[in-house]
Amino acid sequence: MNLADAIRTRRSVRQFTSRPVTREEQEQLIAAATLAPNHRLTQPWRFYVMGPEARRAYGAVLGARKAKKIEDPAAAQAMIDKVAAAGAALPAQIAVAMVQAENLETREEDYAATMMAIQNLSLTAVAMGLGTHIKTGAIMEDPRARAALGIPDGERIVSLIDLGEPAEQREPLARRAPSEVTAWLP
Ligand SMILES: Cc1cc2nc3c(=O)[nH]c(=O)nc-3n(C[C@H](O)[C@H](O)[C@H](O)COP(=O)(O)O)c2cc1C
Repeated sequence: MNLADAIRTRRSVRQFTSRPVTREEQEQLIAAATLAPNHRLTQPWRFYVMGPEARRAYGAVLGARKAKKIEDPAAAQAMIDKVAAAGAALPAQIAVAMVQAENLETREEDYAATMMAIQNLSLTAVAMGLGTHIKTGAIMEDPRARAALGIPDGERIVSLIDLGEPAEQREPLARRAPSEVTAWLP
Protein backbone atom coordinates (compact mmCIF):
# COMPACT_ATOMS: atom_id res chain seq x y z
CA MET A 1 0.00 0.00 0.00
CA ASN A 2 1.39 3.42 -0.88
CA LEU A 3 1.33 6.33 1.53
CA ALA A 4 -1.49 8.20 -0.23
CA ASP A 5 -3.73 5.13 0.06
CA ALA A 6 -2.87 4.72 3.75
CA ILE A 7 -3.74 8.38 4.39
CA ARG A 8 -6.96 8.12 2.38
CA THR A 9 -8.22 4.89 3.97
CA ARG A 10 -7.18 5.47 7.59
CA ARG A 11 -10.16 5.72 9.93
CA SER A 12 -10.46 5.69 13.70
CA VAL A 13 -11.34 2.07 14.41
CA ARG A 14 -14.20 1.40 16.80
CA GLN A 15 -14.46 -2.37 16.39
CA PHE A 16 -11.55 -4.77 16.09
CA THR A 17 -11.46 -8.43 15.10
CA SER A 18 -10.10 -10.96 17.61
CA ARG A 19 -6.84 -11.31 15.66
CA PRO A 20 -4.00 -10.67 18.11
CA VAL A 21 -1.35 -8.06 17.37
CA THR A 22 2.11 -9.55 17.76
CA ARG A 23 5.00 -8.09 19.69
CA GLU A 24 6.96 -7.86 16.42
CA GLU A 25 4.18 -5.83 14.82
CA GLN A 26 4.10 -3.48 17.78
CA GLU A 27 7.88 -3.13 17.65
CA GLN A 28 7.60 -2.25 13.94
CA LEU A 29 4.97 0.39 14.72
CA ILE A 30 7.03 1.95 17.49
CA ALA A 31 10.10 1.95 15.25
CA ALA A 32 8.10 3.91 12.64
CA ALA A 33 6.92 6.32 15.34
CA THR A 34 10.47 7.07 16.45
CA LEU A 35 11.39 8.23 12.93
CA ALA A 36 9.11 11.28 13.26
CA PRO A 37 10.63 14.73 12.73
CA ASN A 38 11.82 16.17 16.02
CA HIS A 39 13.48 19.53 16.60
CA ARG A 40 16.84 19.10 18.35
CA LEU A 41 16.25 15.34 18.32
CA THR A 42 15.07 15.36 21.92
CA GLN A 43 13.16 12.11 21.27
CA PRO A 44 10.59 12.98 23.94
CA TRP A 45 8.23 10.06 23.20
CA ARG A 46 7.82 7.08 25.48
CA PHE A 47 5.70 4.04 24.62
CA TYR A 48 3.93 1.93 27.21
CA VAL A 49 2.78 -1.26 25.51
CA MET A 50 -0.14 -2.41 27.61
CA GLY A 51 -0.73 -6.09 28.30
CA PRO A 52 -4.19 -7.33 29.32
CA GLU A 53 -3.68 -6.45 32.99
CA ALA A 54 -2.65 -2.88 32.23
CA ARG A 55 -5.53 -2.51 29.76
CA ARG A 56 -7.96 -3.75 32.39
CA ALA A 57 -6.50 -1.44 35.06
CA TYR A 58 -6.68 1.59 32.76
CA GLY A 59 -10.21 0.59 31.71
CA ALA A 60 -11.24 0.39 35.36
CA VAL A 61 -10.10 3.99 35.85
CA LEU A 62 -12.02 5.07 32.75
CA GLY A 63 -15.05 3.16 34.05
CA ALA A 64 -14.77 4.77 37.49
CA ARG A 65 -14.77 8.20 35.87
CA LYS A 66 -17.85 7.29 33.81
CA ALA A 67 -19.54 5.85 36.93
CA LYS A 68 -19.01 9.03 38.99
CA LYS A 69 -22.58 10.23 38.52
CA ILE A 70 -24.24 6.83 39.01
CA GLU A 71 -25.75 6.78 42.49
CA ASP A 72 -26.56 3.07 42.79
CA PRO A 73 -23.31 1.36 43.93
CA ALA A 74 -24.10 -1.90 42.11
CA ALA A 75 -24.80 -0.06 38.85
CA ALA A 76 -21.61 1.98 39.29
CA GLN A 77 -19.58 -1.19 39.84
CA ALA A 78 -21.21 -2.78 36.78
CA MET A 79 -20.09 0.21 34.71
CA ILE A 80 -16.53 -0.07 36.02
CA ASP A 81 -16.45 -3.80 35.28
CA LYS A 82 -17.86 -3.30 31.78
CA VAL A 83 -15.34 -0.66 30.75
CA ALA A 84 -12.45 -2.60 32.34
CA ALA A 85 -13.48 -5.75 30.43
CA ALA A 86 -13.72 -3.78 27.18
CA GLY A 87 -10.16 -2.54 27.73
CA ALA A 88 -8.85 -6.00 28.48
CA ALA A 89 -10.58 -7.34 25.35
CA LEU A 90 -8.79 -4.93 22.99
CA PRO A 91 -6.26 -6.71 20.74
CA ALA A 92 -3.61 -4.19 21.79
CA GLN A 93 -3.27 -0.76 23.35
CA ILE A 94 -0.28 1.56 23.60
CA ALA A 95 -0.05 4.60 25.84
CA VAL A 96 2.16 7.31 24.37
CA ALA A 97 3.77 9.70 26.83
CA MET A 98 6.37 12.43 26.47
CA VAL A 99 9.14 13.68 28.69
CA GLN A 100 8.29 17.24 29.76
CA ALA A 101 11.15 19.64 29.07
CA GLU A 102 11.65 22.61 31.41
CA ASN A 103 11.64 25.04 28.50
CA LEU A 104 8.14 25.94 27.23
CA GLU A 105 9.13 26.18 23.56
CA THR A 106 10.83 22.80 23.68
CA ARG A 107 7.81 21.34 25.46
CA GLU A 108 5.48 22.55 22.70
CA GLU A 109 7.75 21.29 19.97
CA ASP A 110 8.11 17.96 21.75
CA TYR A 111 4.32 17.63 22.01
CA ALA A 112 4.02 18.28 18.28
CA ALA A 113 6.76 15.77 17.52
CA THR A 114 5.05 13.17 19.69
CA MET A 115 1.82 13.68 17.78
CA MET A 116 3.76 13.24 14.52
CA ALA A 117 5.15 10.00 15.95
CA ILE A 118 1.57 8.90 16.65
CA GLN A 119 0.61 9.68 13.05
CA ASN A 120 3.59 7.63 11.78
CA LEU A 121 2.40 4.77 13.96
CA SER A 122 -1.22 5.09 12.77
CA LEU A 123 -0.36 5.19 9.06
CA THR A 124 2.12 2.33 9.37
CA ALA A 125 -0.62 0.33 11.09
CA VAL A 126 -2.88 0.89 8.07
CA ALA A 127 -0.13 -0.27 5.72
CA MET A 128 0.15 -3.44 7.85
CA GLY A 129 -3.59 -4.19 7.66
CA LEU A 130 -4.16 -2.86 11.17
CA GLY A 131 -6.02 0.16 12.51
CA THR A 132 -5.88 2.54 15.45
CA HIS A 133 -8.07 4.77 17.54
CA ILE A 134 -6.35 7.73 19.19
CA LYS A 135 -7.91 8.59 22.54
CA THR A 136 -7.22 11.61 24.74
CA GLY A 137 -9.07 13.54 27.45
CA ALA A 138 -8.93 14.59 31.08
CA ILE A 139 -8.34 10.99 32.20
CA MET A 140 -4.74 11.37 31.08
CA GLU A 141 -4.12 13.73 33.98
CA ASP A 142 -5.90 11.47 36.48
CA PRO A 143 -3.33 10.13 39.00
CA ARG A 144 -5.17 6.77 38.96
CA ALA A 145 -4.59 6.49 35.19
CA ARG A 146 -0.94 7.44 35.58
CA ALA A 147 -0.58 4.81 38.30
CA ALA A 148 -2.29 2.14 36.18
CA LEU A 149 0.26 2.77 33.44
CA GLY A 150 3.27 3.35 35.70
CA ILE A 151 3.98 6.79 34.23
CA PRO A 152 6.83 8.45 36.15
CA ASP A 153 6.86 12.08 37.32
CA GLY A 154 8.10 14.37 34.58
CA GLU A 155 6.16 12.60 31.82
CA ARG A 156 2.83 13.63 30.33
CA ILE A 157 0.46 11.10 28.78
CA VAL A 158 -0.20 12.34 25.24
CA SER A 159 -2.59 9.69 23.99
CA LEU A 160 -3.88 6.18 24.33
CA ILE A 161 -3.89 4.22 21.08
CA ASP A 162 -6.28 1.31 20.63
CA LEU A 163 -4.78 -1.05 18.07
CA GLY A 164 -5.90 -4.10 16.13
CA GLU A 165 -7.30 -5.43 12.91
CA PRO A 166 -10.36 -3.38 11.89
CA ALA A 167 -13.61 -5.34 11.92
CA GLU A 168 -15.13 -2.96 9.39
CA GLN A 169 -14.02 -0.73 6.55
CA ARG A 170 -15.52 2.76 6.78
CA GLU A 171 -15.49 5.53 4.20
CA PRO A 172 -13.50 8.67 5.08
CA LEU A 173 -15.47 11.36 6.92
CA ALA A 174 -16.14 14.37 4.69
CA ARG A 175 -13.68 17.20 5.22
CA ARG A 176 -13.85 20.85 4.17
CA ALA A 177 -12.51 21.36 0.65
CA PRO A 178 -8.80 22.20 0.62
CA SER A 179 -9.66 25.45 -1.20
CA GLU A 180 -11.74 26.55 1.82
CA VAL A 181 -8.81 26.20 4.20
CA THR A 182 -5.98 27.39 1.98
CA ALA A 183 -4.69 30.86 1.20
CA TRP A 184 -2.30 31.16 -1.78
CA LEU A 185 0.00 34.08 -1.02
CA PRO A 186 1.69 36.12 -3.75
C1 LIG B 1 -5.51 14.32 19.24
C2 LIG B 1 -6.69 13.44 19.02
C3 LIG B 1 -7.45 13.05 20.11
C4 LIG B 1 -8.56 12.21 19.96
N1 LIG B 1 -9.26 11.83 21.06
C5 LIG B 1 -10.33 11.01 20.90
C6 LIG B 1 -11.04 10.56 22.04
O1 LIG B 1 -10.69 10.87 23.18
N2 LIG B 1 -12.11 9.75 21.86
C7 LIG B 1 -12.50 9.37 20.60
O2 LIG B 1 -13.48 8.64 20.48
N3 LIG B 1 -11.81 9.77 19.49
C8 LIG B 1 -10.75 10.57 19.61
N4 LIG B 1 -10.03 10.96 18.51
C9 LIG B 1 -10.43 10.49 17.17
C10 LIG B 1 -11.21 11.54 16.42
O3 LIG B 1 -12.49 11.69 16.98
C11 LIG B 1 -11.29 11.12 14.94
O4 LIG B 1 -9.99 11.20 14.40
C12 LIG B 1 -12.24 12.01 14.14
O5 LIG B 1 -13.58 11.74 14.48
C13 LIG B 1 -12.09 11.80 12.63
O6 LIG B 1 -12.37 10.44 12.30
P1 LIG B 1 -11.31 9.53 11.54
O7 LIG B 1 -10.08 9.43 12.43
O8 LIG B 1 -12.00 8.19 11.37
O9 LIG B 1 -10.98 10.18 10.24
C14 LIG B 1 -8.93 11.78 18.65
C15 LIG B 1 -8.15 12.18 17.55
C16 LIG B 1 -7.04 12.99 17.73
C17 LIG B 1 -6.22 13.40 16.53
